[in-house]
Amino acid sequence: MSMTAIIGGTGLTDLDGLNIQREEVLETCWGAVSAPVLIGDFHGHEIVFLARHAQDHSLPPHKINYRANIQALELLGVDRIIAVNAVGGITEGMCGGVICIPDQIIDYTSNREHTFFSDDFEVTNHIDFTMPYDEKLRQSLIQGAIQVGLNIRQGGVYGCFNGPRLETAAEIRRMERDGCDLTGMTGMPEAALARELGLSYASICLVVNRAAGKADGEITIDGIRQVLVEGMQKVRQLIEASLVL
Ligand code: HPA
Repeated sequence: MSMTAIIGGTGLTDLDGLNIQREEVLETCWGAVSAPVLIGDFHGHEIVFLARHAQDHSLPPHKINYRANIQALELLGVDRIIAVNAVGGITEGMCGGVICIPDQIIDYTSNREHTFFSDDFEVTNHIDFTMPYDEKLRQSLIQGAIQVGLNIRQGGVYGCFNGPRLETAAEIRRMERDGCDLTGMTGMPEAALARELGLSYASICLVVNRAAGKADGEITIDGIRQVLVEGMQKVRQLIEASLVL
């Protein structure tokens, strides 16, 4: 039996429509999980929900214990993870409100615990990460979006920046030259850790602002909040539709 987890990011610290049956406060050998893990029924599907930044959004991206989060989901029997990420849009058309299912990642983060294989390393621990997202799960998300009539981007490169500050305009220009379409702060090492444990992982990215230097003026939190409210409603619809696929 397949069990799906949703890791909610900024703007999705709880999941409307989730009928919670159990709540688990978990401690793993890597430390504490971001928040109590909620297990329940979401439109007829048993799912697990985890708020990546904690329920009060108190954990900044570099302080999230990604290893504990992924390990806890695996221990609960999860085999598919749908990650939700709020991102900045870099390339043309990646504007506020756009939903993208990325297919590639560039990791610009540093000083994060990014592997389960630091100790007792074996040669088999060099995981293949050519395609960082699980293609079958990505296709379920894309089909789910099509079914509910959402116009989404079916691929894109997610660049993961350390944060918590936003990027400079020059950093964004560099990311664009590297081929990034989106910039976010939480996609890595989450995706790689899921792969290390053999879990299917894909991401729904909601663009909440044009990235630094791509629009006139400053990026404001108020502007981001406005896009988040409407955008996350669409994300929930997409998740519901894709769970049956
Ligand atoms: N940069 C990085 N992360 C983000 C952004 C951004 O512009 N917007 C939302 N998350």
